[in-house]
Amino acid sequence: MELIFEKSQAGRRAGRVPSYGLPVPEVPAGLARSTPPRLPELAENEIVRHFTNLADRNFGIDTGFYPLGSCTMKYNPRVNEKLAALPGFANLHPHQEDEGAQGALELMWELQQILAEVAGLPAVTLQPAAGSQGELTGLMLMRAYFNDRGEGGRRDTIITADTAHGTNPASVTMAGFRLEKVATTERGNLDLDDLRAKVNERTAGLMLTNPSTLGLFDENIVEVAEIFHDAGALLYYDGANLNAVVGISRPGDMGFDIVHYNLHKTFSQPHGGGGPGGGPVAVRDALEPFLPSPQVVRDGDVFRLDHDRPKSIGRVRGFAGPFGVFVRSYAFMRAYGPELRAMSETAVLNANYLLARLKDAYELPYDRLCMHEFVLSARRLKREHGITALDVAKRLMDYDIHPPTVYFPLVVPEALMIEPTETEPKERLDAFVDVMLRIAAEAADAPELLKDAPHERPVRRLDEVKAAKEPIVKHGFGDAAREGALRAAGR
Ligand SMILES: Cc1ncc(COP(=O)(O)O)c(C=O)c1O
Repeated sequence: MELIFEKSQAGRRAGRVPSYGLPVPEVPAGLARSTPPRLPELAENEIVRHFTNLADRNFGIDTGFYPLGSCTMKYNPRVNEKLAALPGFANLHPHQEDEGAQGALELMWELQQILAEVAGLPAVTLQPAAGSQGELTGLMLMRAYFNDRGEGGRRDTIITADTAHGTNPASVTMAGFRLEKVATTERGNLDLDDLRAKVNERTAGLMLTNPSTLGLFDENIVEVAEIFHDAGALLYYDGANLNAVVGISRPGDMGFDIVHYNLHKTFSQPHGGGGPGGGPVAVRDALEPFLPSPQVVRDGDVFRLDHDRPKSIGRVRGFAGPFGVFVRSYAFMRAYGPELRAMSETAVLNANYLLARLKDAYELPYDRLCMHEFVLSARRLKREHGITALDVAKRLMDYDIHPPTVYFPLVVPEALMIEPTETEPKERLDAFVDVMLRIAAEAADAPELLKDAPHERPVRRLDEVKAAKEPIVKHGFGDAAREGALRAAGR
């Protein structure tokens, strides 16, 4: 170990470590370490076993059905990975001059064009790395727009729905705006009376998901847009639910001025567990000058990064954005080609099929056609058998199904938000229905089975509050080896 350490130091000193043409800074003598670092020394096979055992415990879209509402856990085609790993893409250095990165820039430019078409808005930035970062970017764009018009100080309020995802109020607060919430009607639309009462000269804009987190398309969206535009305010579209409408309706046509996309949801990307993500933002012409810098532009047949953007809000992410994500989403779009609309149509069909088959066994608070997802309530199971949405979710794990989103949106008690996506075959949907019906029957016949669930997972039911408050993030290698030995011994 010492020998290797010495060699690598010597190698670095001799300049053998790749420096990509950049100067390699000398470590000042006072800061250089004099003893080798304490690195763990482990047998390779033990390390392989450790990670294989961890991977075996994982659940993902590749291992089972994952109807996690508002997350669009669709299958990620393997060809996307192959393309993202092409050496010309994967090995491209972020400091590569534009002339040497024409293929990558062209891909980004084309991605911008497709996204602009999907949103019905002319200009796109690819920089934000998640939906939530898109939200923050969009709000910064609103602020820059109003400042430019001399209205910045006056317009200090953003309105969201009472069904809004938690990132919406968080972004509003982070961006320094005041937050106001508008109620949802019994039919699942924004309450227009409540809205009219709250929109005034202080309103900077609306932030809305459409279809909403209830999986319902707002039937009055054009009127909603008029109310805001008449007051001189802007509309922001949280595109987390875009999977329902691609090629069918466009946020720009609905009246939205700023849109974010969740590339990792709508346009396929392995996600969950924290990344990677992509949250591009599209805007109307009037907001284009404020977009983050640099922008990917085309001059004839040449593509380049345009840094000359005097009114820009500046960078919101390093370099030009999460490039590997762009390649995967672009590949996904190109595989569909002009048939992209079929993606959304199938997603909506699948959700309505599940809704129709489950609405009698569970309660359906908003009984109308849904979009790509729908929200059931376990309220009746709770009233009659003491079984909660959480119990249903935990029991699903015993049947190798990832739980749906629970307890959200907050306006539905005991909510179970189910999103099947377009990538599941009918057999899989039917199997899910069978399990959900069986669980509803178990709630009546053997409720203790649900209360104790899961029974078949590596860990039983966790104290989730304690886990969140006192997380144990360190798992010693020795623990894993011991656990492996115990498991092998059948204990
Ligand atoms: C409705 C809604 N808005 C915003 C977001 C935030 O998106 P991201 O997780 O990409 O930050 C989500 C994420 O699940 C969402 O469901």
